[in-house]
Amino acid sequence: MNKYDSGVMAGCLVRDGYVLAEREEDADVILLNTCSVREHAEKRVEGILGQLKSRKASKPGLVLGVCGCMAQKEGRKLVDKFPQVDLVCGTHRFHDIGSILRKAIENGEGVVDIGEDDDGDGNYTGLMGKGTGVINAAPTRRTGVIHTKICAFVSVMRGCDSFCSYCVVPYLRGREKSRPSAVVVEEVEKLAGSGVREVCLLGQNIAAYGKGLDEKIDFAGLLEKVNKVEGILRIRFLTSHPGDVKDNMLLEIKELDKVCESIHLPLQAGADRILTLMKRRYAQNYYRKLVEKVRSLMPGASITTDIIVGFPGETDDEFKETRKTMEEIRFDGAFIYKYSTRPGTKASSMSGQVEGKVKQERIEELLALQRKTSEEKNKELTGRKVEVLVEGKSRKDSSSLFGRTRTDKNVVFEGEDELIGKLVDVKIAKAGPATLMGSA
Ligand code: 5AD
Ligand code: SF4
Repeated sequence: MNKYDSGVMAGCLVRDGYVLAEREEDADVILLNTCSVREHAEKRVEGILGQLKSRKASKPGLVLGVCGCMAQKEGRKLVDKFPQVDLVCGTHRFHDIGSILRKAIENGEGVVDIGEDDDGDGNYTGLMGKGTGVINAAPTRRTGVIHTKICAFVSVMRGCDSFCSYCVVPYLRGREKSRPSAVVVEEVEKLAGSGVREVCLLGQNIAAYGKGLDEKIDFAGLLEKVNKVEGILRIRFLTSHPGDVKDNMLLEIKELDKVCESIHLPLQAGADRILTLMKRRYAQNYYRKLVEKVRSLMPGASITTDIIVGFPGETDDEFKETRKTMEEIRFDGAFIYKYSTRPGTKASSMSGQVEGKVKQERIEELLALQRKTSEEKNKELTGRKVEVLVEGKSRKDSSSLFGRTRTDKNVVFEGEDELIGKLVDVKIAKAGPATLMGSA
């Protein structure tokens, strides 16, 4: 999502006549797009701001901006704490970065714009605004880290209504707002015209797509429409709250030829007591049944997850339940995090905060388990042919090509550049925990 938002800002600035610098050192304006999901991400931004302070001393006129979640969360405090910051642009204001930047250059003092939540309901004016929803018209620049030439992100909704007790996202991104399907399809058509072959549809909780739109549509309906776009070969999507995944959505993933059988279903924790404290809206049993349903409909589907260890009050036994669930489900991949206290969230004031050392032990145990499972699952593919969409040259070895399977596994193989952008059958010869090697 942040990569996409960076693309929106880059697109708006290029439209306004700015030029993207090749290297950070050459830039006259440096904008940091930030994340507040965990404290660690914020600390990194603070570290970078420290480094950029000395850069600014040796390059007068350099404009420095902080954008996104941390900007939304801290607002003016950022300028007070880091006087080297010239502008602060919140999560609802990305599309107005041009005018914010102009003001910062003209004013010569910190400009803070985080939008206005007029009625305190989490519905900010601005990006997806009440009214027209300006993001729908914002140009998106897709270069470098933002995407490959072949694969692109497309935001289909923003915000989140779930309010999981540990999570700061709903406070910083506001309530769920979907983009009309025609606007999404138009963006995907444009991408297809520019050579993009795979789109990854994005939403904090994409399974809830469509709520509040004038048209009657849900995520299954959106998939159906995007599937019709000519030139697009594959469709992925992120992220689905397990509680909102409907049967018709799974059926469409199975039926629609371009939609990849790959679903990210954040579990967060194994024990029911912790899931309740997390306000996740489901119990372990429901989650397991959902996984069974996905696998019985699509036997080869890949299922990935997010796990938090050390949620307040998590006992050893409860942690073991998470471990056991992971062992039994055998996820294709998992992002595993140490619980990070986020000010303002319900969990931040819960008793029984878990010691750092314990969180560290727990995360290491699960990372090792997942590494082993991923490797075993990848090894199951050796000797088999898999369909790969070729995205470009391998980063490590420019004589090889890189692509992904429908199940989102990385594949490196030898082949000619003309295969880039095409679907190729690759026979897998070797598999590690993160990459498959093969030949076309
Ligand atoms: N601490 C640790 N991990 C968190 N996540 C969200 N909030 C926190 C937090 N306070 C994780 C969840 C979510 C992913 C995007 O980030 O696992 O699914
Ligand atoms: Fe955060 Fe929960 Fe919303 Fe995901 S579903 S963004 S974890 S509040």
